[in-house]
Amino acid sequence: RTVYVNGEYLPENEAKISIFDRGFLMADGVYEVTSVLDGKLIDFDGHAARLERSLGELDMASPVTAEELLAIHRELVARNGIDEGMVYLQITRGAPGDRDFVFPDPEETPSSIVLFTQDKPGLADNPVAKKGIRIISIDDIRWGRRDIKTVQLLYPSMGKMMARKAGADDAWMVEDGFVTEGTSNNAYIVKGNRIITRGLSNDILHGITRAAVLRFAREAQMEVEERNFTIEEAREADEAFVTSASTFVMPVVEIDGTPLGGGVPGRVAPRLREIYLEESR
Ligand code: PDD
Repeated sequence: RTVYVNGEYLPENEAKISIFDRGFLMADGVYEVTSVLDGKLIDFDGHAARLERSLGELDMASPVTAEELLAIHRELVARNGIDEGMVYLQITRGAPGDRDFVFPDPEETPSSIVLFTQDKPGLADNPVAKKGIRIISIDDIRWGRRDIKTVQLLYPSMGKMMARKAGADDAWMVEDGFVTEGTSNNAYIVKGNRIITRGLSNDILHGITRAAVLRFAREAQMEVEERNFTIEEAREADEAFVTSASTFVMPVVEIDGTPLGGGVPGRVAPRLREIYLEESR
């Protein structure tokens, strides 16, 4: 696999990052995941815009322009022959020559940038989407700026492990009684023809897939309600689903052991998945 590191395209085993990189030492970095279908980037502009916002919120400079970023994405997709898969991008606050909590001077320490592709044949036609996934609820103990897409992913990883131990596929996080989001996706419930999802704030990541799916839902005359919901309300919903760049729209068929809609995907989530795949590719 060819990867991109700080201005160079290299075979993955020749790519190097300093041990003093603040991404490595302090999780001082941001990332994006963009999916690829038919060799084309999906929702790239949205991911690029959110990256810029994440960088701005953390006072971090981008080492590349927006045009260069797109060109690097395309080049990696081409070089690695990706038909269906993902491009991962990470920018960190670079590698000062030592460990220090204080941010380094950006003039002396340029930010680091890494991109690589992940080949995922069958991503669009994922058989899991036909069955749906089972989730458990866990406390949301993450920090207060979940709107910034940082590489601090230890708790989400632990959440996936808790789910796995409980015999489930993923976890939804709950704060002050309300669902915030999934470990790596946005969370929705469906009641009748109404789609309910938490509104945007610093409490959740502003999903790029979320924005597109809600737009398509409204265009298809579905009702969208952006408000908080509890796990109890979710367990009594007709349907539930999650969205992300890596899963698109994925039905949820069980919450904390309670099956939804007889434990099989309902009408709305599969329809939204279809619309999303049709409209975005
Ligand atoms: N995760 N919420 C969280 C906490 C996420 O990590 C993600 C994405 C989303 C969905 O955002 P988007 O629709 O822009 O992908 C919501 C990516 C896919 C990941 O970490 O792999």
